[in-house]
Amino acid sequence: MTTTTPTPVTRQVTTLDSLPRPKISVAAWARLFAAPEASRRQLAELGDRFVLDVPLMPTMFWTSSPDDVRAVFGDKTRALSFGTALRRLAPHELIFGERIMSWWASEDHTAVRRKVAPAFMGKALRGYEPVMEDVARQMMRDLPTDRPIRFHAHARTLAREVIMSVVFGVTDGERRSRLAHHMTELDRLVGSRGLAVRYAASMAMRGRWLPFPALDRVLSGLDEVTYEEMAVRRASSDDLDRRDCLAVFLELARADDQGLMDDEMIAGFQRLLLVAGNDTTAATLSWVIERLARHPVVLQRLQQTLADGDDTYLDAVITETLRLRPTVPFTVRAVNHDVVLDDVFLPRGSMVFLYINGIHRRADLYDAPDEFRPERFVGVTPDPSHWLPFGGGINRCLGGQMAMFEARVLLRTILREFTPVAEATADEDQVASTIMLLPERRATVTLRRRTAPAAG
Ligand code: HEM
Repeated sequence: MTTTTPTPVTRQVTTLDSLPRPKISVAAWARLFAAPEASRRQLAELGDRFVLDVPLMPTMFWTSSPDDVRAVFGDKTRALSFGTALRRLAPHELIFGERIMSWWASEDHTAVRRKVAPAFMGKALRGYEPVMEDVARQMMRDLPTDRPIRFHAHARTLAREVIMSVVFGVTDGERRSRLAHHMTELDRLVGSRGLAVRYAASMAMRGRWLPFPALDRVLSGLDEVTYEEMAVRRASSDDLDRRDCLAVFLELARADDQGLMDDEMIAGFQRLLLVAGNDTTAATLSWVIERLARHPVVLQRLQQTLADGDDTYLDAVITETLRLRPTVPFTVRAVNHDVVLDDVFLPRGSMVFLYINGIHRRADLYDAPDEFRPERFVGVTPDPSHWLPFGGGINRCLGGQMAMFEARVLLRTILREFTPVAEATADEDQVASTIMLLPERRATVTLRRRTAPAAG
């Protein structure tokens, strides 16, 4: 399946007008996010493909078709742009500015990705493992037991500590506490009225974002920490034994002959990784704990396999959790010029929504799609057009492997010590927090210390 520019067409082309095309109000559009599970059921009634017309928004083509997924991820024409879509729908321009966005839609994007990929794969990941284990062990000392806790709060601390150690690589106490402070401020601003107002204004102004000086100050604070850390390492050359993303970037910058990896690019990257990798990972850890607490048989098998030193079943548990409870419900591409996607004609200015939450529940792709059955993924590599929690194609999540690796290391360490027990039998609903889907009660569980911590 491919995308093509619309040359004289001989095959049947589907127009957006021939698809189900409800007009919905801005309030109904907002409700789609507020009640993701009810929306999923409602949207499923419109079929695999439909169009949503919302005032002030671009025409939105939604699809749950694996053929369309293949066409989007395989797009070679660059008619579809993730960067343009993010710029239109989310405050990415405010957070990353011009410099970082400029490469999303150009050939440089692929060049930069290729350069930084080693920081997120194989050998580099194994290098991060001791730090991740350390973070999990330290946090376990403070984890309350024998009373209900909202695990998500602890998962956020875990994910944040990992980002500070693995991405920023900051060990100096003062710099680390400044970094933590800026991260807290960033979280606060992302959930603030100030940003909500700018969202509404950007919708009214069709994608133009008002400045947000308070956010600029926090981002400068983050960059300052990165610049100081780079200066210290360059002065002492101690990054030679460091194993973190910053060390990999500095090494790339030293060897860069294309002028792609300068200090500004590195600082921008650190921000990007922080924003893209922190809450997504915390949400995933929380969902795994929420699912396991409600599936004691799965949990028991998992703890047994971990005691045997085997991570295969743990990987299947994480994969199945990301299928049933994907952290982001959809991904999106803006249409930069008229294009025929698979067989659908998409006019310039429209958007394609790949409905991850819908695709993952298709009964023709998964037996009993609403049930949590990690067994379906044991020893199986999921089809990228059926399982896409990390998106796909040229914009596939850069940290996808790292997120899977991190979840594996952290959960393995925690589950050897603790057994999560559900507070109530009913599943926690998915609720939206910004673009992410979180457990409604933030994975409320009681952690019981295992009497004899398992070997492994
Ligand atoms: C479970 C955790 C995570 C989930 C579910 C997730 C999900 C996603 C999704 C859906 C996209 C859009 C891809 C597309 O539309 O094709 C994306 C992009 C991205 N993610 Fe993640 N992500 C996670 C963790 C991370 C981590 C840990 C990092 C880095 C430390 C990261 C860095 C990025 C970056 C840089 C992009 C943009 C890639 C590009 O456009 O080239 N993510 N992520």
